[in-house]
Amino acid sequence: MKITKKFKVSIVMGSQSDYKTMKHAEKILKKIGIKFEKKIVSAHRTPKRMFDYAVSAEKQNIGVIIAGAGGSAHLAGMISSITSIPVLGVPIESKKLKGLDSLLSMVQMPKGIPVGTLAIGEDGAINAALLAASIIAINDSSVKKKLKKFRYSQTKSVKKTPK
Ligand code: RP5
Repeated sequence: MKITKKFKVSIVMGSQSDYKTMKHAEKILKKIGIKFEKKIVSAHRTPKRMFDYAVSAEKQNIGVIIAGAGGSAHLAGMISSITSIPVLGVPIESKKLKGLDSLLSMVQMPKGIPVGTLAIGEDGAINAALLAASIIAINDSSVKKKLKKFRYSQTKSVKKTPK
């Protein structure tokens, strides 16, 4: 009998203040029925927590990591340097540079350590969850079904004529 391991998604963020953005990822994962956890892990304020988290992520049955951070946003890259689990980065909209700093920090990772970077803010959080779902769906037919259903109802919601 083939036993297929069900993976969960881990949502991490650099600060409590990032949660107002990252909760949009959580909402999508709930909708698609994917198991997840959420944690505050800061690369510069809690470096030991970050290291311990990344080192043990594989043992925790985590299939994809979604990391949201703002400013000089090194969280996603640092985690990706410690584990080979795919890391999706959500650049948080910062006060001074509107998230351009966060975006460039994530998307400009030097070769060798990838971070799959999404859009700044809410759109990025939503797409990170959808992309995580697509990755999990490779090995999970019930997630694949729910993802297809989500796409179908999204398509259906677009009216043919404006009112
Ligand atoms: C980053 O600094 C966090 O990811 C957050 O986006 C930003 C601001 O953090 P707080 O000052 O709101 O805690 O580490």
